[in-house]
Amino acid sequence: MSEIVLSGKGVTQRFGGLTAVQDVTFEVPKGEIVSIIGPNGAGKSTLFNCVTGIYTPTEGQIFFLGQEITGKKVHEISALGIGRTFQNIRLFSEMTALENVIVGSHAKAKSGIADALLHTPRYRREEEEAVKKAEEILKLTGLYEYRYHYATALSYGLQRRLEIARALASDPVLLLLDEPAAGMNEQETHSLTEFIRELKGMGYTILLIEHDMKLIMNISDYIYVLDRGIPIAEGTADEVRQNPLVIEAYLGKEA
Ligand SMILES: Nc1ncnc2c1ncn2[C@@H]1O[C@H](COP(=O)(O)OP(=O)(O)OP(=O)(O)O)[C@@H](O)[C@H]1O
Ligand SMILES: [Mg+2]
Repeated sequence: MSEIVLSGKGVTQRFGGLTAVQDVTFEVPKGEIVSIIGPNGAGKSTLFNCVTGIYTPTEGQIFFLGQEITGKKVHEISALGIGRTFQNIRLFSEMTALENVIVGSHAKAKSGIADALLHTPRYRREEEEAVKKAEEILKLTGLYEYRYHYATALSYGLQRRLEIARALASDPVLLLLDEPAAGMNEQETHSLTEFIRELKGMGYTILLIEHDMKLIMNISDYIYVLDRGIPIAEGTADEVRQNPLVIEAYLGKEA
């Protein structure tokens, strides 16, 4: 049996009277692409926020590499090896592509504010290393030629890719991608699909939220389906595609 990188057991998140995520249990095996799908408001992003420490789930537990991480702080979870992108692009528009990736690596820096102000040797060494590493990541992600471009000068597809590059800078084992294809045209989505496959090839484990069904069905090893917070189905692309509950959740209002 393959090693489980991330798992959730009975994860529930309530906001006042609203149960956004209800008793969700899932597993993400090492080296696989696992996807979470479901209609708008299904609780997908909320589940990501529970995993990454933005919320402490009302009930349930989350484990990462065998260790319980429920209730840990955002920076602790990031330091353990979970990187993420957000549904809305969160790049620093006044910074270059290179600088945006460097920012992503600072979560791990050992030098403090005093080192930075005094430009101590430790600070300068860490800066040089951060630049070198960011350049490597930009090469890896096909963005090296854009390293001195401002983030906002990049095409939408490249900005989304830069977001992933920035997430890689914190040395994650697991990548959480929240709707990476949102707003992309067909060509950009195709290129992103290949890119996510390459990331898997590099050894990253990926948990993916997406509305683009073609992308999901193409690259997912396993899929969980949520509807109004409730897990309604799980399985391979073929299994999920044929599941009547899934079809109803997506088409129900029209049917
Ligand atoms: N901080 C919050 N406070 C109150 N309600 C929230 C909060 N965050 C999310 N919700 C609600 O929880 C439900 C699930 O939202 P969530 O953003 O997780 O859905 P989603 O599956 O990511 O949807 P989408 O596909 O539109 O991104 C929604 O009804 C939403 O309004
Ligand atoms: Mg969402």
